[in-house]
Amino acid sequence: MTDKFENLKSEVSNCTKCSLSSTRNRVVFGGGNPDAEIFVIAEGPGYEEDLQGIPFVGKSGKLLDKIFAACGFTREQHVYISNIVKCHPPGNRAPSKVEQAACLPYLIKQIDLVDPKIIILLGATALQGLINPNLKITKIRGEWIDWNNRLVMPVFHPSALLRNPDLKRPAWEDFKKVVLKYRELVDPGHYSKHI
Ligand code: URA
Repeated sequence: MTDKFENLKSEVSNCTKCSLSSTRNRVVFGGGNPDAEIFVIAEGPGYEEDLQGIPFVGKSGKLLDKIFAACGFTREQHVYISNIVKCHPPGNRAPSKVEQAACLPYLIKQIDLVDPKIIILLGATALQGLINPNLKITKIRGEWIDWNNRLVMPVFHPSALLRNPDLKRPAWEDFKKVVLKYRELVDPGHYSKHI
C-alpha cells in the first residue's frame, strides 16, 4: 500500500473533528489487506474494538470471521474492513448524523486508495451512511447496487444475526452472491468449500 494510505491513517489517528474523539481510547482506522478487492464497511467500533484499535474483534467479529471462512475469504488476503465512523460511540449507540458527516470523507478517501471491485455494507448504518439515508436494509439486502463504478452488496450486520438467528439463512444467500461475483471479477479459481 502507498504512502498516501499511511498518511491518511496517521491523519485519522489524530482526528478531533467530532466529539467521539474525546471519549475514544483508540481510533479504529481499518483492518485486513489494504490491497484487497473486497472492502467491508460496518457501523462503528464497539467496546472491544475501541480498546484494541482493530475492527470486529468482539462477538460479531467472531461470527464475521466464520462467514468469511465459509466464503473462502481471509482478512489477510481477501478483505479490508472499516466503519462509517472510526471512533467508538459511547454505549454502542449508532453514530449521529453529525459524527457520520465528519468521518465520511475519510472513508471515501480510504475506498479510493484501496480501490476494491466489491464493497459489502454490513447493516443499515453502513447502507444509509454511504449510499442513501432513505434505503431500508430489510428491503435492499442481497441486491447489487452500482455506486461510483463499484459494485455494492448490502447485507445484514452480524450483530443482527446474533440477535435473530432466522436472518442467518438470508445473509448466507447474500454472501454466496459475493463469492460468485468475486470469481467473476477477480479470481475464477477462488476456492470456497461451501459454494
Ligand atoms: N461492529 C461494527 O459495526 N464495527 C466494528 O468494527 C465492530 C462491531
